[in-house]
Amino acid sequence: MPRTNPQLLRTYNHRLNGIAPSGIRHFDDTISKNEDLIKLTLGEPDLDTPEHIKQAAIQGINDNDSHYSAQAGKVELRQAITNYLSTRWNLEYDAEEVVVTNGATQSIYSALQAIVNPGDEVIIPTPIFSLYEPIIEILGGHAVDVDTSNTGFKLTPALLEDALKQHPGVVALVINDPNNPTGVSYTADEVKQLGQVIAKSPIWVLSDEIYGELTFDHDHYSLAREIPDQVLYINGLSKSHAMTGWRFGYICGPSEIMQRVKMINAYMVTCVADNVQDAALEAMTNGQEDAYEAKAIYQKRRDLVSNRLDEMGVEYVMPTSTFYCFIKIDDSYGKDDYQFGLDLAEKVGLGVIPGRMFGKSGEGYIRISFAASEEKLTAGLDRLNKFIQLLGK
Ligand SMILES: Cc1ncc(COP(=O)(O)O)c(C=O)c1O
Repeated sequence: MPRTNPQLLRTYNHRLNGIAPSGIRHFDDTISKNEDLIKLTLGEPDLDTPEHIKQAAIQGINDNDSHYSAQAGKVELRQAITNYLSTRWNLEYDAEEVVVTNGATQSIYSALQAIVNPGDEVIIPTPIFSLYEPIIEILGGHAVDVDTSNTGFKLTPALLEDALKQHPGVVALVINDPNNPTGVSYTADEVKQLGQVIAKSPIWVLSDEIYGELTFDHDHYSLAREIPDQVLYINGLSKSHAMTGWRFGYICGPSEIMQRVKMINAYMVTCVADNVQDAALEAMTNGQEDAYEAKAIYQKRRDLVSNRLDEMGVEYVMPTSTFYCFIKIDDSYGKDDYQFGLDLAEKVGLGVIPGRMFGKSGEGYIRISFAASEEKLTAGLDRLNKFIQLLGK
């Protein structure tokens, strides 16, 4: 096994020095040593990819659809994406304004790379999915954390105005609506109000709407409807169609910036695998029912979780979307959600993710994922109840 020549250490990209591998994965690995663990940790649908979507990929392989596609993605797929965005979310894009990527993850990377210069600041309302900040740091930018824990875990116009005043050079804002890890989603009015504040500032918004199909109590309303000239809209099929392993996502925005995103995509990966694009075309064309079915399943589980937590007298954030629930930890732990998570795994065998993994403002909470069967959820909540009883003694 070759060891790195020590003289080469000086050549490392120093921006990576302060960046750690995913805390979520690390915590999950740490607690997974307990073999009897019920894991409600990862944001991974437990459902299977719908059959007709799988068949489309198989058909593509059998038809020898195995060559480089257009770098931004096959034109018929980009057209299907624009049709979906128009009919489902009232968003109007041309196929030229869409780039198909390897998961929403790569859309996020490409979008940030198209915007962020070294030293640039990007506002991130937290708690939030833990991917944006490390990418900003890798690109030499800085994340400006806006704590939303006192405003129902939502960015309010006042919070945003304040952050913009304090950081006048900010180049972008990240919005993740519906939100991972809290499960909160913005109403149309809230989106409109935020849009009005953003429109007054020359900033981009990275609008990650990957959970848009999984909104329970009101329909999702896209920020791209309000300020399309400032939004880089990100979506994918990982969550709505249980397609995490396929690695399919897409990004849309005004044509000039999309030329740059397209270039980054081309230099990074050339294009997404043909058979994945075939599957995505089927999902985007004939798969709306699949998303509705998934949403009904998650909504039933959300009700199960919230009813049970109410019975237990546990404080939590009511998830209006996604498949996550953000639960307040017992007062005896103060804000130490990390220790709470470790003890929960060790003493009763329940795996959750500490809230601090999603930013400092997540401290004092844990996230459970209800992308798990009702039996598993019930057994997991039984264990949480047992742990709380133990603490009470
Ligand atoms: C908010 C959010 N955006 C993006 C992603 C990544 O999605 P993909 O699997 O399409 O890369 C996730 C995955 O957990 C997520 O929660």
